[in-house]
Amino acid sequence: MSRIIAVANQKGGVGKTTTAINLAASLAATKRRVLLIDLDAQGNATMGVGVDKYKLAKTTRDVLLEKARPADVILFLPNLGFSVMPANSDMTEAEIKLRDVAAGDFALKLALEQVAADYDYIFLDCPPALSKLTVNAFVAADGVLIPMQCEYYALEGLTALVDTIEKIRRVINPRLEIEGLLRTMYDPRNNLANDVSAQLLEHFGDKVYRTMVPRNVRLAEAPSHGLPVIGYDPLSSGAKAYLALAGEVLRRHDGGQLPLG
Ligand SMILES: Nc1ncnc2c1ncn2[C@@H]1O[C@H](COP(=O)(O)OP(=O)(O)OP(=O)(O)O)[C@@H](O)[C@H]1O
Ligand SMILES: [Mg+2]
Repeated sequence: MSRIIAVANQKGGVGKTTTAINLAASLAATKRRVLLIDLDAQGNATMGVGVDKYKLAKTTRDVLLEKARPADVILFLPNLGFSVMPANSDMTEAEIKLRDVAAGDFALKLALEQVAADYDYIFLDCPPALSKLTVNAFVAADGVLIPMQCEYYALEGLTALVDTIEKIRRVINPRLEIEGLLRTMYDPRNNLANDVSAQLLEHFGDKVYRTMVPRNVRLAEAPSHGLPVIGYDPLSSGAKAYLALAGEVLRRHDGGQLPLG
C-alpha cells in the first residue's frame, strides 16, 4: 500500500523541498517506487530534480483543475529512479480556482486515487503557507512530515501547523497523522538550537526523527545541478543524513527491509 507524505511547514526556507527531493531519492535508492509531487508555484522541487519548469506542457495545476490525468503529467526520471509531477507559477491559478470549486479541498486526493497503487511512497512538496494547496495535501496525505530549523520562532509557527493538521483530521481526513518532525540545518554547537531541540523532544517525543540534517553546503549546491545530494556527492554529510532518514521512514512503515547489495 502506498504511503502519502506531505512535507509541510508554513514557514519559508526551512528545508521542505530539500527534504522532499532527498527523501524521495534515498527511498528510490532502496528500490521503492516513489513519486514526488510539486505543489509549489516556486517549482523548486521540479528544478531540483533536473526538470525545466519553464518548458512544461502540463503541470500539477492541470491535474488539480481536471484538465489532465496524473499519468499524462507525471515524468519518470530514469537517472534518479523516481517520478515527479512538476509545477511552476501556474499553481497560483490552481490555488485561486480551487477556492470556487465545491470539492476544491479534495482535488489532489481524487487525482491520487488514480495512481497511488503504482507507488510505495508519494511525497507532496507544499508551499510555505497554510493555503488551499496545503489543505489539499493534508486531505490527500496519510502523514505530515514537518521539517524545522531549531530557532527561536520555530515553535510558535508549529502550534498553528499542528492545529491545522488536527482540524483536518477531525473534519475531513481521520487517517492524517504527524509523520515526524525533522530538525534541519542543525548546528549542535548552537545553544539555542539545542534548547529548541530539547523542547521539541519534550513535546513530541518519538515523533521527532532521530536523524538530524546538518547544515551542509552540498545539499544547497545539488539542486543547481538538478540532482539529489546522493547523486551529487554521495559521501557528504547531507547525503548520509537523508539516507539515515529514509532508514527511519522504512523502519516505521515497511519493517525496515532494505534490499541487499
Ligand atoms: N541542511 C542544509 N544545509 C544547507 N543548506 C540547506 C539545507 N537544507 C536546505 N538548505 C538550503 O536552504 C534553502 C531553503 O531550503 P528549501 O528550499 O529546501 O526550503 P523550503 O522550506 O522548501 O523553502 P520554501 O518555503 O521557499 O519552499 C535552499 O537554498 C536550500 O538549498
Ligand atoms: Mg520549497
